[in-house]
Order: sequence, then C-alpha cells, then structure tokens
Amino acid sequence: MSAVRVENLVKSFEASRGHAPRDVVNKVSFEVADGEFVVLVGPSGCGKSTILRMIAGLESVTSGSVLLGGRLVNDIAPKDRDVAMVFQNYALYPHMDVAQNMSFGLRLRGMPRDEIQRRVDRAAAVLGLDQPENLLGRRPKALSGGQRQRVALGRAMVREPAVFLFDEPLSNLDAKMRVEMRAEIMRLHAELGATMIYVTHDQIEAMTMADRIVVLCNGEVQQTAAPLEIYHRPANMFVAGFIGSPAMNFIRGHFILEGGDMVFVENADSSSPHVMRLHWAGGIPRPPVELFRQVVLGLRPEHFHEAAPDGDASISFSAELKSVENTGPEASLHLRTAGHELTVRVRRPPGAGTDALRLVADPAQVSLFDPASGRRLS
Ligand SMILES: Nc1ncnc2c1ncn2[C@@H]1O[C@H](COP(=O)(O)OP(=O)(O)OP(=O)(O)O)[C@@H](O)[C@H]1O
Ligand SMILES: [Mg+2]
Repeated sequence: MSAVRVENLVKSFEASRGHAPRDVVNKVSFEVADGEFVVLVGPSGCGKSTILRMIAGLESVTSGSVLLGGRLVNDIAPKDRDVAMVFQNYALYPHMDVAQNMSFGLRLRGMPRDEIQRRVDRAAAVLGLDQPENLLGRRPKALSGGQRQRVALGRAMVREPAVFLFDEPLSNLDAKMRVEMRAEIMRLHAELGATMIYVTHDQIEAMTMADRIVVLCNGEVQQTAAPLEIYHRPANMFVAGFIGSPAMNFIRGHFILEGGDMVFVENADSSSPHVMRLHWAGGIPRPPVELFRQVVLGLRPEHFHEAAPDGDASISFSAELKSVENTGPEASLHLRTAGHELTVRVRRPPGAGTDALRLVADPAQVSLFDPASGRRLS
C-alpha cells in the first residue's frame, strides 16, 4: 500500500475579491511508496507548497483525494494525520533551548517524560546535535543557520511520523551548507526508512535527492519518473528545458532522406554556411517521424563535441562562436548556426581567435518533440 496517494487533487483560490476562483492545483495525481523519497519540483508559483499543505491538512482540498496509508484524510485534522512538515522558515521558540524546542510538541500532547527523553536523544544523535559539541542546552540565537535547520528537522523527527513533508527547507542556507544539509537529509532518510516528500524549485536538489521526481508547471503534473529517466527522456519541452543546466538546446527543423540515411536539417536560411545537419548513420535506429514534418529536436549541451580534424565531414556541421564561459573543469560555448543559438559544453575551451567550430552531435541522445503540443515524439 502506498504511504501517500493524491488523486485528481484540485485547489481553487479566489484571486482577489470579485474575481472568479482560479485553479492553482489542477487534477494532480501521484503516489509515494512506503519509504520512498519523492521530490516535487517546478517553477515558483506552480503549486508545490499548496499540494504539500493539502497533504499536511493545513489547506482544504477543493476536490480530489488525499490518502495516507490507504486512508482518505481529506477531513482529518492535521494533528491526526501522522505527518510532520519542515518549512523554509522554521520558527524556533527563541526563549527555549534546543532540547525544549524539539520536545515542545510532545510535551503539549502529554507524552511520558522518559519517552520524550528517548526520542530527543535519538534525534540529537542522528543529527549530531549532541557531539562533538553538545548543543541541546543552547538557545536558537546562539546557533548557526545550519544548526537551527537541524533543530527544525529534529522537531519533526521526534514526532516519529509516518510521512515527512519538506517545503524548501534549505533555501535560507548558503551553498556549502545546502550541500551538507542535503546529505544530512538523505542520510536521515536512509536511517529512518521514512516516507519523505520534498519540495524544491532547485532542479539539482531534485536530481540528487529523489528516488522519483514529480515535475509540476502551472498546477499540473508534467512528468513523474526517476531522475535519470526525466533527464534522458523528458516527456515534453517544459520538462526538457527545466531539468538540466545549461538547458537543453531546442532546434526546429525536419528530416530528409539522404543516401539512405535520415538527416535532420534545421529551419534556416540555407545560403548560410552554418546550416545544422545531423545524420542518423550506422546502427542508430531511425527516429519514428515522417519526412518533412516540422519537429523540435532537443540536445543537451554535453551531447555535442568538436569534430576531429580528420573526421568524416559529412556528419559534422559548423557554427559561429559567439562567446565562451569558463567554469573551471569545462567551458560552455555559445554558438550560432544558420537558424539557432546553441549552448555546447566542452572540456577544453577553443584557442584564442577561433570564430567558428566544426561540431558533431550524437543522434542517439536526441529527444524529438511536437512543436505544437511540446510533447515527446519518441
Ligand atoms: N491563500 C491564497 N490565496 C490566493 N492565491 C494563493 C494563495 N496561496 C497561494 N496562492 C497562489 O497559488 C499559486 C501556487 O502557490 P504555491 O505557494 O503553491 O506555489 P509554489 O510552487 O510553492 O511556489 P514557490 O516556489 O514560490 O514557493 C500561486 O500563484 C499563488 O499566488
Ligand atoms: Mg512554495
């Protein structure tokens, strides 16, 4: 039985007085298996927090269902749902020390003292709040941002909930601390084996943490799959453009047949010397699209490389070099073909004075999309 299931979940808000209600979550369905780590990712305003708050019971459901452990909980109070939520703005009580902050909710419920002690000790040990330095007696103002975030995690942990919900819990931390806390949460997941739903707009966080990712846009699910499936086989152009940085290149064009090979030709002024052509030569399966049909071809920046000087010229194309961004281990090249701008990632930047490059792209890595609907064709 899945730990969490949402079915055709809808949330309407009145945009402002007198305006018709607007669906900010529109027929969203997904399942989270017991012990699974699922990340909800999407741009700001796509409905991530609203979905999480409906699962927690902090927001009413307009229509559809929220099931926890197979039980319909639409009308069950948050405190009776056995979920714990960690927010971006984890307000700790300033006048209580760390141990008191963590145990406050349990004390409120009248839990026996030794049970509270056991849970706080365990959380402190898992989160490293007891050593090397014992922070349990400190007030929040004497803690770093990362330590405070750990206390907020501890407060959720001591409840020993069936499901943890995280709403961008790391966005107030600096880059280094984020990476550390990311590892910490994943360790926590491995150790507790708990079901976790994690919301972020950061695609790197989604890719590195998730067992499965749910990509959202405008309140609708775009794709639900494992990170690498999302990366290599995005269901539509939104997902393809959102996941991956620098973003996937989109090139409009069509296929022709040349010497028995399918060849993609970009839409462009054909008198330019830089028309992009890609040959489906060798054993690479032909794309299942009709000749001359307009398509959008998607290729990630790392799926291009510079053609070898003595390579087969018929499978390469040239592009004008506009600018180079060095990131250290590699460089991003911004190029222009006859009809499109391209971003290409290479190990070594081209030498000074280079104004055009010959490139080869790997047809096996291509995604093809329908230009009208944006949907994946193959
Ligand atoms: N109480 C409310 N009344 C009216 N509209 C709301 C309310 N709460 C949220 N919204 C709207 O619902 C949409 C989704 O909001 P939500 O907070 O779920 O987005 P989000 O994906 O979490 O974004 P972010 O990444 O910025 O946190 C937004 O357009 C927001 O303006
Ligand atoms: Mg949000």
